[in-house]
Amino acid sequence: MGRMFAQVSRDILSAIGNTPLVEILRMIEGAKFRLLAKLEMLNPGGSMKDRPALSMIKHGIEIGRVRPDTVIIESSSGNMGIGLAQACASLGLRLICVVDPKTTKQNIGILKAYGATIELVTTPDPQTGEYLQARLNHVKTLQAQIKNSYWPDQYSNQYNPKAHRAVMNEIVRDLNGEPDYLICSTSTCGTIRGCAEYKQAHNLKTKIYAVDAEGSVIFDGKRGARLIPGHGAAVRPNLYQPGLADCCIRMTDLDCVVGCRRLARREAILAGGSSGAVIMAVEKLKSEIPPGSVVVAIFADRGERYLDTIYSDSWVADHFGADAYLWEA
Ligand SMILES: Cc1ncc(COP(=O)(O)O)c(C=O)c1O
Repeated sequence: MGRMFAQVSRDILSAIGNTPLVEILRMIEGAKFRLLAKLEMLNPGGSMKDRPALSMIKHGIEIGRVRPDTVIIESSSGNMGIGLAQACASLGLRLICVVDPKTTKQNIGILKAYGATIELVTTPDPQTGEYLQARLNHVKTLQAQIKNSYWPDQYSNQYNPKAHRAVMNEIVRDLNGEPDYLICSTSTCGTIRGCAEYKQAHNLKTKIYAVDAEGSVIFDGKRGARLIPGHGAAVRPNLYQPGLADCCIRMTDLDCVVGCRRLARREAILAGGSSGAVIMAVEKLKSEIPPGSVVVAIFADRGERYLDTIYSDSWVADHFGADAYLWEA
């Protein structure tokens, strides 16, 4: 009843998706191709994880596993937790987010602000030495203790990649056709797999390049220490499949830092660590990309969550040497 509005989202969850595609003009010197960034960071919760968070909860509701009194439990120290916290707050559901000591104070603050309960795992799993495994073990303990609980399990849930098919759909729609290259960071492999599934279903010729973190094992890398959260994984996720990507490029923590800082100064885009890795991967690939190609890079999350690390001169100097932050120019 009453006034008809021209363009209004029903609620915050309806504002997820349809993120902009913007041209990147100054980042890659001498580029003979068009480079566009898919700004998944502009989803309302601040990352591309808003999509799978909502899609996994919706599916849980559809199959009757999520009811109004259900407690959602998930292991996440970052964007998925925040995406779920946003979805749960909007739908009136309770969320317990299992985090570890590496989770930033800021992310815990954001999770709490949405009303999520935080469960902190304090010691790594004794068998693997990994916090990830310790968090998953704790999720299983909580699941056994709490009646009416539901674990979306972002590492195995098919509704994680399914939600990301829309990313490729939006890119193709907005470009009036397929891009020649898609450059995508990886952790659960939800994003890359969703895009690869869309490519296959629509017979696209797009080459999909995975960007993984140095020290991550997803694409047969050697396990090692990593500083930048978000991308990479210490255990290969169940959603991984051989052939997901045409090629994998491994990028270092310093690549993330330099890429992010350049993006902020040259393009006025304040993005998160994996976006820095993705843009530096394009820099690395530039001589092999044929002139005239259309390249799309996915920027997964916003930079505000990295102000104490990537964008802090003292943090960068402590980890990479006093001159490292000068490389942003
Ligand atoms: C900042 C950031 N970039 C990239 C990724 C990788 O995305 P996916 O889990 O869909 O592979 C994640 C996943 O958490 C992330 O948080």
